[in-house]
Amino acid sequence: MEKKLTMDKLVNLCKNRGFVFQGSEIYGGFANTWDFGPVGVELKNNIKRAWWKKFVQEDPSTYGVDAAILMNPKVWEASGHVQSFGDPKMDCKNCKTRHRADTIIENFSKGAISAEGMSDEEMEKYIEEHDIKCPNCGKRDWTPIRKFNPMFTTSRNMVGDEKDVVYLRPETCQGEYVNFLNVQRTMRAKVPFAIAQIGKSFRNEITPGNFLFRTVEFEQMELQMFCHEKDSMNFYNSYKERALKFVESLGLSEENLRFHDHDKLAHYAKAACDIQYNFPIGWQELNGVHHRGTWDLSRHGEYSGKNMDYLDPFTNERYTPNVIEYSIGADRLMLAIMCEAYEEEELENGETRIVMHFLPAIAPYKVAVLPLQKNLGEKAREVYGALSKEFMCDYDEAGSIGKRYRRQDEIGTPFCVTIDFDTLEDNSVTVRDRDTMKQIRLKIEELPAYIQKAIKF
Ligand code: GAP
Repeated sequence: MEKKLTMDKLVNLCKNRGFVFQGSEIYGGFANTWDFGPVGVELKNNIKRAWWKKFVQEDPSTYGVDAAILMNPKVWEASGHVQSFGDPKMDCKNCKTRHRADTIIENFSKGAISAEGMSDEEMEKYIEEHDIKCPNCGKRDWTPIRKFNPMFTTSRNMVGDEKDVVYLRPETCQGEYVNFLNVQRTMRAKVPFAIAQIGKSFRNEITPGNFLFRTVEFEQMELQMFCHEKDSMNFYNSYKERALKFVESLGLSEENLRFHDHDKLAHYAKAACDIQYNFPIGWQELNGVHHRGTWDLSRHGEYSGKNMDYLDPFTNERYTPNVIEYSIGADRLMLAIMCEAYEEEELENGETRIVMHFLPAIAPYKVAVLPLQKNLGEKAREVYGALSKEFMCDYDEAGSIGKRYRRQDEIGTPFCVTIDFDTLEDNSVTVRDRDTMKQIRLKIEELPAYIQKAIKF
């Protein structure tokens, strides 16, 4: 069975099957924004729930928060975002589009070259030597690299005075650092413990055409483990492993995943690693695990004037905890999951079917209820009514049963339940499996347990 996936095919499928639409489409779109449709929102919610389950619900040392998007601007001074000059950008003089130099190099080399350690001069030289052209117009007519701060700004007051400037958070983790003392106190938490959250982040990213990979508005699932320095490398290594296990448990295959240890570290960092996924655009970062030393709590201590130290109640040692950060984008993970799930399968009759082999636990709909004919609708709606109390279900009575099966295959519904005339006699239905297309007969009352077993995560 061969996979022939391109980003264009995936974008088309997403658009036609209700996963993802272009943002503000009726106005001609709005660059690097996407709207999640009825199918896509289910998939993304299921991914977020799976992450929360593994890293918060099942881990007694991790506490969840949901911090405000708009934070005191001093937070971004402490984090270094206000002072930082941001990403290396170049303009194409021919078509007037703006691009990230590091992304251009990484895309050109299909992920073989990492530009993270390159200076601006080295990137410009690489682009020239390899004759890398503008991905939009195909010409090579670049401006020199310039840096732009990627933080979006807004204003607290109507006057729009510069001193009223407020930032849309470019990462969620600062909401975890600033709540370190609150969580510790209210939950009587003992170091080591972690704070996790899922939420929107905003970056004024300028990258053409990579769909959900890099967008201006995206969701991050981030976790900060606060620990003693002596335990920090163990936590760093264990989060690397847990992060890998998590994405594998959602169906990403071993051969499409690899660790990428950073050669060049931020001055405060002790170690940093990405997990990369082999996207149709090449090997790219899927998530990061970073050993951030005491940088974050020290900086917030310094800028807020609050003492962020921890007093160990057993040893009486007072110290600033180290932070191990694990961070993954929900949208980017959804993209990887869709890439992995996609298959164009050649059938014995010569036809091709597109199937999204999502792990049942994260599939948008768990079951579709399909009356064989419209006049079986009453019974079918009764079955739908019962199942939809427990699972996200789809209902479809339009068109041939073959076409309805194909549609469910394309949105990755693990089970189709068909209501036929025998159902009226013996209360049994046909259950078709998405992956094998095999059909079995079950009593209606057996359905919930059967589906529940298959979607356990
Ligand atoms: N707090 C650390 C941090 O934000 P990052 O490497 O910039 O680190 C972490 O981002 C993760 O967030 C990335 O690995 C990626 O999955 C996701 N991400 C970052 N920028 C993104 C963007 N513009 N669009 C979609 N996902 C993004």
